[in-house]
Amino acid sequence: MKEILGQIKEQVIAGFKSAGYDEKYAMVTLSNRPDLCQFQCNGAMAAAKEYKKAPIAIANEVVEKLADNAMFSKCEACPPGFINMNLSDEFIAAFVSKMADDTERFGVDKVSTPKKVMIDYGGPNVAKPLHVGHLRSAIIGESIKRTARFMGDEVVGDVHLGDWGLQMGLIITELKLRKPELVYFDENYDGEYPTEAPFTISELEEIYPCASGKSKEDPAYKEAAMTATYELQHGRKGYQALLSHILNVSVNDLKRNYEKLDVTFDLWKGESDAQPYIPDMVQKMKDDGFAYISEGALVVDVKEDTDTKEVPPCMILKSDGASLYNTTDLATMVWRMKDYNPDSIIYVVDKRQELYFTQVFRCAKKTGIVPADTNLYFVGFGTMNGKDGKPFKTRQGGVMRLEYLLAEVEEKMLEKIKENGTMNDEDAEKTAQIVGLSAVKYGDLSNQASKDYIFDIDRFTSAEGNTGPYILYTIVRCKSILTKAGVSSFDGAILPAHSESERALQLELTKFMAALSSAYEDMAPHKICAYIYDLANAFNRFYHDTKILAEEDEAVKASYLKLLWLTRGVLEKAIDLLGFKAPERM
Ligand code: ARG
Repeated sequence: MKEILGQIKEQVIAGFKSAGYDEKYAMVTLSNRPDLCQFQCNGAMAAAKEYKKAPIAIANEVVEKLADNAMFSKCEACPPGFINMNLSDEFIAAFVSKMADDTERFGVDKVSTPKKVMIDYGGPNVAKPLHVGHLRSAIIGESIKRTARFMGDEVVGDVHLGDWGLQMGLIITELKLRKPELVYFDENYDGEYPTEAPFTISELEEIYPCASGKSKEDPAYKEAAMTATYELQHGRKGYQALLSHILNVSVNDLKRNYEKLDVTFDLWKGESDAQPYIPDMVQKMKDDGFAYISEGALVVDVKEDTDTKEVPPCMILKSDGASLYNTTDLATMVWRMKDYNPDSIIYVVDKRQELYFTQVFRCAKKTGIVPADTNLYFVGFGTMNGKDGKPFKTRQGGVMRLEYLLAEVEEKMLEKIKENGTMNDEDAEKTAQIVGLSAVKYGDLSNQASKDYIFDIDRFTSAEGNTGPYILYTIVRCKSILTKAGVSSFDGAILPAHSESERALQLELTKFMAALSSAYEDMAPHKICAYIYDLANAFNRFYHDTKILAEEDEAVKASYLKLLWLTRGVLEKAIDLLGFKAPERM
């Protein structure tokens, strides 16, 4: 259904036109003085210049044309030329009734021209445990993906594993040192390699930091790792067999972790999948005259006249012929275009990689890897900091593993649930998991992605304030009243508001469509958070000054319950798009 501002605007346009003014002046916004009115139009002020008339005169003429319009309970001209409007209670109630009757989408239409979108998010590195640095990409990307899908786009999410590079050579080198007898290291071996991996995930997670530490101290060790990496990348069979073991073991573990976060990927492709596309891609760049040798390396210029900061050339191959992070990202675009031909690709990556992506995007467009009409978006996110304002660390000062972070939050939630003390242990644990995840995700998503934020476990897990648990409490409150009332279907309509707080709640509900489409267009989940926080507040105010179940007039009670049902539905839909769920009880 058409969103509320659009519906109002239609009427105001009609008003301007019939009063003889251009419709371009009929802009309508939410009021910035909610104490005076709900909506406003400032167009008469702008029209005054063109028509050489006092703004108030124009406003008066338009208002006159709208005087009998049933949409408004108030439509008045105020000096110097504002048009202030309130919707009639009947109109608002009919609008929200219609939302409630659309039991799946609550009035939100799909976009008229759905797009094919690819989202590159998560970006974990194989053989290294998931740490909090990967948390934001997963959380934000998942929400952008769910929102775009709900709006009707065809969306493919790709985890884009970091599975190519020195870390592989490091692991191989360390493994060779520890278990030189393994067949993978025998260059003359030409039989089948074992299907069982020669290490477990915990061994793998211990091997990598150990090797990485050694390589920093010992140049010979680092040299060996670089050679191993080179040999792996140039087809040494035993190493490639090891690589697939490393991948399998790692990916299984990553999947388990992402499951806990309720994050799922359609594709589990990695940097290594792009490698076969590199030679042809590079050849074409050379043939087309885009790539040239500079100081030994192969580069493509990507600076533009309008740049205010220097944008260095995009390096395609190092002087020793080795490929780079760039090369892999470009080659990844090659298969993405070939296999999926998306209308846009969205990268959800740490904002410190912004310049890098500027280079890669320009290079992709310039060399024709990505056609001009395909949109490449960089959604850069800031750092998750600890209370000291520095990147989040464990108490010992190490990198915090995602698993431990989640466990810590769950424990905190469990404590709180046990304090309230009405649940058995099993239910309490399940609930702590659900609510804990809401605390982490909402704590992240409620900030604009590009900003840094402070991970404050006490604040995030609090049931008061702008938090995940607060939203969940509100949903659970709605559910519990509905359960007590014992109704599950709602035939009648929602009636015009009976009180100020009910009017405010109904009005807030009308804004759902607009909030979602702006979150979708701007790839900005924080807009969904801001909306549901307002909605939850409006609901709780209504709840506190209304006797719902004790209401004697059956029609009014039925209307309240339907309003409650709609509020619950909108909130639950919104949190689903944010990537978490509500429990039955809390
Ligand atoms: N693996 C990378 C990292 O940990 C992130 C990958 C981001 N995506 C991309 N297409 N480059 O920093």
